[in-house]
Amino acid sequence: MVTSYEKVPVHIFDTPLQGSVFAAAQIAQIIREKQQAGLPCVLGLATGSTPITLYKELVRLHKQEGLSFANVITFNLDEYYPLEQEAVQSYWSFMHRNLFDHVDIPAANIHIPNGEWKQEDIKQHCLAYEAQIDALGGIDLQILGIGNNGHIGFNEPGSSIYSKTRLVNLENSTRIANSKDFQNISKVPRLAITMGISTILKARKIILMAWGFKAGIVARSVEGDVTEQVPASLLQQHNDCLFVIDAQAASELTRIKSPWMTGEVEWTPKMIRRAVINMALKLGKPVLSLTNHDYTENGLGDLLVEKGDAYEINLQVYYLLRDSITGWPGGKPNVVIPNHPERSAPYPKRSLIFSPHPDDDIISMGGTFMRLQDQGHEVHVAYQTSGNIAVTDEFVTRFLDFAVGFEELFGINSEKSKDIMQDARQYLAQKKPSQTDTSEIRQIKGLIRRCEAAATCRYVGLKEGQWHFQNLPFYETGTIQKNPMGEADVLLTMELLRKIQPQQVFCAGDLADPHGTHKVCLDVVFESLKRIKAEGDAWINDCWVWLYKGAWQEWDITEIEMAIPMSPDQVMKKRFGIFIHQSQKDMVPFQGSDSREFWQRAEERNSNTANLYAKLGLTQYAAMEAFVRWHF
Ligand code: F6R
Repeated sequence: MVTSYEKVPVHIFDTPLQGSVFAAAQIAQIIREKQQAGLPCVLGLATGSTPITLYKELVRLHKQEGLSFANVITFNLDEYYPLEQEAVQSYWSFMHRNLFDHVDIPAANIHIPNGEWKQEDIKQHCLAYEAQIDALGGIDLQILGIGNNGHIGFNEPGSSIYSKTRLVNLENSTRIANSKDFQNISKVPRLAITMGISTILKARKIILMAWGFKAGIVARSVEGDVTEQVPASLLQQHNDCLFVIDAQAASELTRIKSPWMTGEVEWTPKMIRRAVINMALKLGKPVLSLTNHDYTENGLGDLLVEKGDAYEINLQVYYLLRDSITGWPGGKPNVVIPNHPERSAPYPKRSLIFSPHPDDDIISMGGTFMRLQDQGHEVHVAYQTSGNIAVTDEFVTRFLDFAVGFEELFGINSEKSKDIMQDARQYLAQKKPSQTDTSEIRQIKGLIRRCEAAATCRYVGLKEGQWHFQNLPFYETGTIQKNPMGEADVLLTMELLRKIQPQQVFCAGDLADPHGTHKVCLDVVFESLKRIKAEGDAWINDCWVWLYKGAWQEWDITEIEMAIPMSPDQVMKKRFGIFIHQSQKDMVPFQGSDSREFWQRAEERNSNTANLYAKLGLTQYAAMEAFVRWHF
């Protein structure tokens, strides 16, 4: 259904995988139609994390359903400049790794701007690129992703609607977003060659895909004004463009965020909570101060008709908010509080915190972690991955120096350590950005992070044996691209769950990044819990699962089911707990699009949640950590 708010057709899918399967089917259909007509099929292709599952599906269609790419001619949107074609980060490598190496497309049919073109020849090459597309009769179907700033291809905000293939500057925000593929931001090229907006708009059909945390920019592109400041909004002027997005990327569209504005809705308690909280925040009023007039003025007249007086509805929402706040994340022992988020019994509980990386526990739920321990529960932490990729090379040599020095200090034979140190030094000195670490170096990096995690557990008060390093195999590729969830990951996790038999499980509910480590870690826990339940273990029926958000975001205030307040002292204590992760301070490799340090992100996010509760008329705490329950 396209509503009047949406100025371009949008298809929403539950998951990125479903969206990708849909887009792949569209591509396959055009390829086959062209094949039947004996014509070439010209595709415009994108890179980045978004189309990875699309390419996987195309490869599957080729291998399992006989889809041939023999008649396909491709033009990629862009390439970094300057960059060697063979570098792992080049879009040339990306396309071969993810698609071209696995299908029967003739090499001569592949066109990608080349990061090795001589600067003085670039204009000529760009003109030729456009001419080649035109000579083939134009692009039949163009696939796009979207940048957080609204860029399509590398057409950054301000790019003209008339722009053609050319050399462009990358915005700093784009370089930061893409730094996850490079060791750090300084290694991301400052320039790129990209097709222009006019080149893109000439395609006969366009599919833009977006998953996860792109909700804000998707809404601006779909519902906002057409402006060169949001390049994707220019797609509103195309006559056959479709946005294929997942539920999370759709979450800021009016039909999802405020469905009562676009049609009738069923007023469930959750829907009422969402509508009222959003209205209160928009008007800057506490929930209990909202009036009948506010409801009618803000599109909630229907709710009044159905539920009666504003004051009654206000109270209902206020109580929901009030009851989500608790200082007892493991339940308050020996009392009966019917609307408390957690059960009082049993007390104490066995609580198991799954931490995708060795610091997510303290960063995302450090205050809750400490409370659970202080309130007498048996707290366990499962560190799901080694996190070795995020340790700098400098740390490795520093710690090897320590290992050799330690042995010398106490008269232990240091020959072996010296050999390892020398090998590591030699390797790191000539290591190219595209090279992965040796297995020894990876192990040392993992060890550094394990020591930090164990130190944090001791700091919180846990005893030896209460932290568990899972080293899930899916993570151990040595590169930023991880394997998908495997059987071994699930079996290891089921074994640990069965050993601890927790009454509470906390895990990182990061559904945002479809290819990220957090999502795989979450899938592993969900799959393990489901299988244990299916196999009939009795304890699982008494196990509640709470989801925290990883380091990047927080739950929407309208969704929070348990909010754990923190005092200023607890905020400081959490900060020092995060500081223990020294290898993650300052210049962290693969930091992503946010240059703040982890403790800063955590504090801003926790105080922001507390402020939102206060704005809605509840007590003002210094900070709050937030959780949503997962039912299985
Ligand atoms: C890449 C491209 C870019 C990306 C965009 C989103 O060829 O054209 O516009 O589509 O930066 O990147 P991801 O998918 O990594 O979020």
